[in-house]
Amino acid sequence: GAAELGPYRHYMQKEIFEQPRAIADTLEGVQGIVPELFDGANAAAWRVFKNIDKVLILACGTSYYSGLVARYWLEDIAAIPTQVEVASEYRYRTSVPDPRTLVVTISQSGETADTLAALRHAKKLGMQHTLTVCNVATSAMVRECELAYITRAGVEVGVASTKAFTTQLAGLFLLTLALAQSRGRLSEEQEAQHLQALRHLPVALQGVLALEPLLISWAEDFARKENALFLGRGLHYPIALEGALKLKEISYIHAEAYPAGELKHGPLALVTDQMPVVTVAPNDQLLEKLKSNIQEVRARGGVLYVLADADTRIASSEGIHVIRMPEHYGVLSPLLHVVPLQLLAYHTACARGTDVDKPRNLAKSVTVE
Ligand code: G6P
Repeated sequence: GAAELGPYRHYMQKEIFEQPRAIADTLEGVQGIVPELFDGANAAAWRVFKNIDKVLILACGTSYYSGLVARYWLEDIAAIPTQVEVASEYRYRTSVPDPRTLVVTISQSGETADTLAALRHAKKLGMQHTLTVCNVATSAMVRECELAYITRAGVEVGVASTKAFTTQLAGLFLLTLALAQSRGRLSEEQEAQHLQALRHLPVALQGVLALEPLLISWAEDFARKENALFLGRGLHYPIALEGALKLKEISYIHAEAYPAGELKHGPLALVTDQMPVVTVAPNDQLLEKLKSNIQEVRARGGVLYVLADADTRIASSEGIHVIRMPEHYGVLSPLLHVVPLQLLAYHTACARGTDVDKPRNLAKSVTVE
């Protein structure tokens, strides 16, 4: 009821602001990186981790995008070949099964029909090693997987997923570290550094949430547009996808995301002063390339909304609006960069007067095909 909303206007806003707490809860009790973090009712994780050579991630919607982030981590940090597939596609296509695969499903509800069907399909193809990153411990997904990691986002009411996404990312990062460790690829020093970065996330997230007034002013511009483009590169391409999805879901603005290098292969043709372009631009090794993508947009009259790091040298100027993130966060940066995009979608929807928590035509949990 209304009482539970406290100072917030909608559940979505409340859930965005709950993220520091949700991440802290998800990490509580994590003393070190051990496979046991992923033990399920049906098996011990260390035995499973020793018997796999690759990972296949299956999910839908926002959970699929957390899988796309995890692929970068799994290949970069754990050196495990990783494939990510939309569950509704995987379940119906002919694929080449490998029994030495860890099948990872990601689901907030644990009841999404397509994701459950994809899991059953993978098992039928002979892949018995299964793990779920899931927010509901009593769900069908948890029952049907060997191993599980239960995120502690708490109940998520808003149809557009927010805190479930960031807690999934925290769980998938821990999974990456546990797999790296089981392969002798994680030194004690690296383990300590990663754990420290994870533990600092709630504080870092508070710093990002404090940017809300700046996103409210961006949202005033977006509310008057009918299209938007989101660009990212590398680890932040999935964050661009998630930002576009959030905007579509609740503000009904048509939004697309592209890996920035693909701009010249099509979407550049759409750029006018009526097409705001959001750029996720943390200071990683792809920054210089991203800066030239920004110039390409400017040269065509496009207006840029750039999420930059504390130390990114991009200044606000005519047609370029910059919000600087308080901290540079290395490989965990997607967890921080998604938050301003959630706030942008939320405040754009508010400005347009849509039903934020219950957008038209969408359901929180899709339990039928
Ligand atoms: C629906 C929800 C999305 C969610 C997706 C997958 O479309 O509206 O927010 O990402 O289902 O749900 P799951 O519970 O499997 O994560």
